[in-house]
Amino acid sequence: MEIEPLIELLLNTTRVAVLTGAGISAECGIPTFRGEGGLWKKHRPEELATPTAFSQNPNLVWEWYDWRRGIIGSKDPNPGHEVLAQWEKVFPSFSLVTQNIDGLHQKSGSTKVLELHGNIWKFRCTEEGTITDNHDVPLKKMPPLCEACGALLRPHVVWFGESLSPTILQKAFLTSASCEAMFVIGTSAVVQPAASLPLQAANAGAKIVEINPDPTPLTSYADFSFRGKSGEILPAIDKEFSRRFKEAKE
Ligand code: OAD
Repeated sequence: MEIEPLIELLLNTTRVAVLTGAGISAECGIPTFRGEGGLWKKHRPEELATPTAFSQNPNLVWEWYDWRRGIIGSKDPNPGHEVLAQWEKVFPSFSLVTQNIDGLHQKSGSTKVLELHGNIWKFRCTEEGTITDNHDVPLKKMPPLCEACGALLRPHVVWFGESLSPTILQKAFLTSASCEAMFVIGTSAVVQPAASLPLQAANAGAKIVEINPDPTPLTSYADFSFRGKSGEILPAIDKEFSRRFKEAKE
């Protein structure tokens, strides 16, 4: 797809929103959920990512998260994450909403990230609800227990059948309702409510920019569809945009 019309749009836009999914971290070597090599091809979500699975077998669930923390912890952000961290400083209003729990946006320098599905580097006490950061890989104790009250800790992530944080979700919907352009990057756009954010943005008049090697249910709503890897396409867009932005300021 031609990059020029998108550059023109970005040069005249002050409110940009972004929704990312597992695909933005795929080039770092972190498996996505669906498609070839996806986690849900090899593992059953109902055995590993539901409240019932956790109450029946907390050790099994924690072993799975420990394994994933091992993979994620050894990875660095890719150029796609880095461009988004830069854009936070470039656009007067910039919101980054992610379905990812890997923390790679923050690792690349993004400071305002709305994490719809939580964060794998956080524990939550099943009794008190307190949230703590923890970066141990592997976990020191299996399953981990709350230092304050001794109760079982759980990953601070959203499992199937659970609701998202209403505060975060409300911010995400406000963002999509008020942006002028929304990038939808590396998501299969099949999991709700995240998948409805771009539709809300489109209904409110925003231009939708999709970056994904494959088409998704969202593709027919996209004004710009870039078929390819976000770690390559975002830097290409940013290079041309930065050049033109600088030129326009001179
Ligand atoms: P999926 O695994 O469903 O989709 C990943 C998307 O990334 C696919 O559309 C791929 O085509 C695309 N993709 C792959 N490589 C890419 C690359 N290099 N650049 C850009 N795109 C690429 O992941 P999500 O849509 O994030 O939820 O999944 C949504 C939710 O489903 C997850 O947050 C998780 C899962 O169940 C929970 O665990 C609650």
